[in-house]
Amino acid sequence: SWKMDSFAEETIRQIREKVGDKRVLCALSGGVDSSVAAVLVHKAIGKSLTCIFVDHGMLRKNEGDEVERVFRQQFDMNLIRINAQDRFLSKLAGVTEPEQKRKIIGEEFIRVFEEESRKLGKIEFLCQGTIYPDVVESGTGEAATIKSHHNVGGLPEDVGFEGIIEPLRDLFKDEVRRVGIELGIPANLVWRQPFPGPGLGIRIMGEVTPEKLEILKDADAIFREEVAKAGLDRDINQYFAVLTGMKSVGVMGDGRTYDNTIALRAVTTTDFMTADWARIPYEVLETVSTRIVNEVENVNRVVYDITSKPPATIEYE
Ligand code: XMP
Repeated sequence: SWKMDSFAEETIRQIREKVGDKRVLCALSGGVDSSVAAVLVHKAIGKSLTCIFVDHGMLRKNEGDEVERVFRQQFDMNLIRINAQDRFLSKLAGVTEPEQKRKIIGEEFIRVFEEESRKLGKIEFLCQGTIYPDVVESGTGEAATIKSHHNVGGLPEDVGFEGIIEPLRDLFKDEVRRVGIELGIPANLVWRQPFPGPGLGIRIMGEVTPEKLEILKDADAIFREEVAKAGLDRDINQYFAVLTGMKSVGVMGDGRTYDNTIALRAVTTTDFMTADWARIPYEVLETVSTRIVNEVENVNRVVYDITSKPPATIEYE
């Protein structure tokens, strides 16, 4: 549309003017907001932008590679990907308490980011994907008090930057998506469902291990694939698999199994403060369940979560 065309053009011009021949650093998460912000800055100043993508190893299946492909290959950005799964998992070893897990992941994220940015020498500006609702709600949201939210885009402001660049400060989410499409960001990224900073770490109840991550990634990929195949991916606002930490008895062939239970969580909502469980057709659920127990090792039971928010939250931890 005309309004968005001029928004992108005008914003790119302003960024170029503000930055001059200085440099900008961005923490890229693969989420919509940080992606659109980074592409705007990239269009303005090219290689004077450096993006750090901290892959904590708790992203969804193939997500890290996808982020790298889009930003390094398609946009030819200066992208540094840090594969930090071992670091995060060793910090999380033996930790089962949800708030503690969140805190560890959030703190480790900032530590890795700071270490990497220090190696880059002096960078004057930090780019952030703050959007209008973040500006309005900052710090006072309901979710902020119920669970400690670690937003991957939200880094402390006192790490020595001359200024912050927040090109999306005046936009609502649907406007951000429109700009993203216009800038040529792939539709699957622009329409990506919300994904929490701590990632799959808070969808594995209890201790996080590499083995559990593999199980969850595979089950979750099947669920997302079938929801998309059924054409429900834009109607259901958030949908994912959870590794419940519950084991139960099953039967396979002549043998008894004692294995993991996957829960499927899917909600419809407008603001994520309240949510209703999604009425996914039984046929779709059946396909998902059959595929998960057949294709994912160490899972012998799949359950569907029929709880709304409140009283349940969308995430499990
Ligand atoms: P809950 O579980 O509180 O989640 O109903 C509400 C929405 O917030 C997302 N969420 C997070 N987003 N960092 C984020 O950036 C976080 O730590 C975090 N925890 C929850 C959740 O996915 C849902 O969309």
